[in-house]
Amino acid sequence: MAKDMMKEIASLCGRRGFIYQSSEIYGGLASCWDYGPLGVELKNNIKDAWWRAVVRLRDDVVGVDTSILMHPDVWVASGHVGAFHDMLVDCLGCKGRFRVDHIEGGKCPTCGGKEFTEPQKFQLMFKTRAGASEATALDVYLRPETAQGIFADFKLIQKTSRLKVPFGIAQIGKSFRNEVTTKSFIFRSREFEQMEMEFFVKPGTDQQWFEHWVDARFMWYKSLGINPDKLRLRPHAKEELAHYALCCTDVEYEFPFGWGELEGIANRSDFDLKSHIEHSRKDLSYFDDDTKEKFIPYVIETSGGIDRTFLVVLLDAYREEVVEGEQRVVLGFDKNIAPVKVAVFPLQRDEKLIGIAQNIYNELRGFMNCFYDQSGNIGRRYRRQDEIGTPYCLTVDFDTLEDKAVTVRDRDTMGQVRVKIADLKSRFLEEFA
Ligand code: GAP
Repeated sequence: MAKDMMKEIASLCGRRGFIYQSSEIYGGLASCWDYGPLGVELKNNIKDAWWRAVVRLRDDVVGVDTSILMHPDVWVASGHVGAFHDMLVDCLGCKGRFRVDHIEGGKCPTCGGKEFTEPQKFQLMFKTRAGASEATALDVYLRPETAQGIFADFKLIQKTSRLKVPFGIAQIGKSFRNEVTTKSFIFRSREFEQMEMEFFVKPGTDQQWFEHWVDARFMWYKSLGINPDKLRLRPHAKEELAHYALCCTDVEYEFPFGWGELEGIANRSDFDLKSHIEHSRKDLSYFDDDTKEKFIPYVIETSGGIDRTFLVVLLDAYREEVVEGEQRVVLGFDKNIAPVKVAVFPLQRDEKLIGIAQNIYNELRGFMNCFYDQSGNIGRRYRRQDEIGTPYCLTVDFDTLEDKAVTVRDRDTMGQVRVKIADLKSRFLEEFA
C-alpha cells in the first residue's frame, strides 16, 4: 500500500505534466527530474508562499540570490571538503554500492550477500572546472547547499542594507549532491532546490530565536493545508548532529515509506562566520552601534527542500472517491497553492458561448493562472480539473445569454452556484490576490 501511493503520485505527475524523468528520450538520467507546465506552477506557488512568510511579511529578513559556483575555499571553510561524504561499501556478490548505514543485518539490500569491501569515503559534492584554459582553470564545486553564499556575503549584505542584529538573510536556489541512494521519486535527488534562511543573532539569545523559528516553520507547513497529524517535530540526538550544529530539530512528514525530513532548523552557533574569518582573513564580525560591542553573531538556520515540500503537498492532497457510481481522483490542494485556480468552459462548441467564455478567461488570467477548455463532455472536463486540483470550474451555458451569469463549480463539494459575470473578477481577486 505504502509503495503504491508513491507510484500512484509519480504516475499522475507524468500523465498530467507535473514531473517528468530528465532526458527521458535518452533513457533518462537517474535521480534528475523535470518539472512540467503544472509542476512549475505548483512549485512557484510553494516558493511564493515561503518568500511571502519568511521575507516579505517580516521586517527583519532580506532576500538574496547568490551564485551556484563559488570560490573553492568556501567549501574548505564550510567543512564540506573535509566532512561531506558518505561511507560506502561494494557488495562482493552483485557489485552494488551501498551506504554503510543502509546495510541492515549485514545483508546486501539487492542480493542478500554478506561479503563487502572495506568502507570507503565518497565525496558528495559534484566537481567541475571553471575557466577557458585547462592550465589555469579552477576546480570548483556545484554548491551542496545555498547557505554558504549567504555566509560569504554576510558583511556585504549587512552593510549595504544597514541591517541590525537580529536579522535574517533568505534565499531559494538549486543545490547538488551526488547522492548514492536515490529512490523515492523526488524525495532524494541529485539536483534539488532549497529554501534557506540564516538568522544572525547576538550570542546568548540564540536558544530563544531557535525556538521562535522552530515554531514559525512548523506553522508554515500547516498553513499549506498539510494534514497536521502527518507532521511532527523531531529534535536530533547529540550523535546525529551535523559538524556545525549545537542543536537541530527536523520538521518531518509521514511519507508512505515512513517519517522523513522536510526541513531542519539548526543552531549553527558562530561556526560558519568564524571559519570564513579564518580562511578568508576578512573581518566578518558585527559592531553594535548602540552598545559599542563587537561580536561574531550566532546563526539560526532554517533549511527546507522545495522538492520534498512539493511531494508532500501532492501526497497529502491526493484522494480517490466514488461519486454517483463513478470514481474520481482529486488533488484537494489548499486553494492558494493550486497550480490552476480557475478553468473556464463553454458548455458546447457554440460560437456565442465560446466568445463569452474566452472573454472571461482573458479577463481572469491577468491576475491568476487560468485554463480554458472546450473539448469533450462537461463531466470529463470537470474530472480532468479535479485530477490536477483546480478549485473552481466556470461554465458558460445557454442561460448565460439571458442572465449574464455562469455556473461556478467547487472542486471539493462539487456544489454549483450562479455568479454574475460582472462579479467574477472581484470574487476571485478577493480569494486569490
Ligand atoms: N544548509 C543545511 C542543509 O543543507 P540538509 O539537512 O542537508 O541541511 C536541508 O538539507 C533540506 O534540503 C532537507 O531537509 C531536504 O528537504 C532538502 N534536501 C537535502 N538533500 C536533498 C536531496 N538529495 N534531494 C532533495 N532534497 C534534499
